[in-house]
Amino acid sequence: MIRFGIVGTGRISDWVLKGAGQDERVKVTAVCSRIVEAAEAFIGRNPLAADAKIYTSVEEMAADPEVDAVYIGTPNQTHCEYTLKALEAGKHVLCEKPLAVNAEEGRRMVEAAKASGLLLMEAMVSTLNPNFRKVASMLDEVAPVRHYSSYFCQYSSKYEALKRGEIASSFRPGTAGALRDVGVYTLYPMVALFGRPSVVRSELRTVKTAEGDADVQGTAYLGYDEMDATLTWSKVYDSFQPTEIAGEKGNLILDEIHIARRADFIPHAAPTSGLGPKAKGETVSEGMPFNEYYYEFKEFADLVETGKTESSVNTLETSLIVLEIIDGMVKQIIG
Ligand SMILES: NC(=O)c1ccc[n+]([C@@H]2O[C@H](COP(=O)([O-])OP(=O)(O)OC[C@H]3O[C@@H](n4cnc5c(N)ncnc54)[C@H](OP(=O)(O)O)[C@@H]3O)[C@@H](O)[C@H]2O)c1
Repeated sequence: MIRFGIVGTGRISDWVLKGAGQDERVKVTAVCSRIVEAAEAFIGRNPLAADAKIYTSVEEMAADPEVDAVYIGTPNQTHCEYTLKALEAGKHVLCEKPLAVNAEEGRRMVEAAKASGLLLMEAMVSTLNPNFRKVASMLDEVAPVRHYSSYFCQYSSKYEALKRGEIASSFRPGTAGALRDVGVYTLYPMVALFGRPSVVRSELRTVKTAEGDADVQGTAYLGYDEMDATLTWSKVYDSFQPTEIAGEKGNLILDEIHIARRADFIPHAAPTSGLGPKAKGETVSEGMPFNEYYYEFKEFADLVETGKTESSVNTLETSLIVLEIIDGMVKQIIG
């Protein structure tokens, strides 16, 4: 049994508890909110948290002996501080994406986790998804990979408010914005599959706000020895493009990179001048018998149960490489 303390009562905490509750090892014994009434309402609508104690301070919650692990579902700028507090109190940490605002914070978190011998994992839902795992296991069938292209473009429900001058945490200049909020979903899986790119070029488009320029959409080119990657992300328009891994022997396609519900494999048909037979695809989907957020809690619970301090899928090295790339992309626009 793993007794979680949940930090933050926003919609992401509601979403993940639906999946967490499908793993019988997961219990919620504490909820931490800045506002007692928000915690009460959260407990009221989440049966998994029905018996949870309420805290208004992360330190106090982390000191509770009936808490084994802390889930951090609060805005990016709080991830480092809350993670360090939880680790100091001897608790494992499952922290929302991106792991931190920047690589310097990320390194402090990783060093603290390693020094403590506790588990720290970024809650990157995409790479633990069964359809993504299936595609990751099939890279040899399309190798050598020549191109990775990924899209996450979703018109944000908070964009209208931004236009009126109200800045939601997901748009906040300096700590969030489209790259950290949704671009990371195209970037993290790329690094998980192919490692650190040798070339990074990007364009981030911004809008002016009272707190500075907020990036709202972007594109990037990333170069590897033998392959190219192109990433496209946005919080101000939708796209219905899939994510594709194109290799000399064929293509692997995920319908959506954030949460893939379908995976397809299209073997390269035959050497062709363009007039040859059309390649025939087949679905290789694993299906999603559980809620999309179940898989990150299952991975976390498996690791706690077996005494491991790092996921071999959502590695801390991947989290740090991603943050270093984000730092570089952001520097290009803010100097
Ligand atoms: N995995 C996914 O699919 C997914 C989806 C969306 C977001 N996320 C990630 O989840 C995190 C939260 O994002 P969000 O858009 O849900 O944020 P949000 O709505 O602004 O905040 C979430 C909760 O955090 C608490 N909070 C808000 N501002 C805070 C502050 N300044 N200090 C401390 N706590 C604060 C609030 O809970 P209380 O009122 O109870 O304190 C709030 O309800 C981000 O890191 C984001 O990247 C992940």
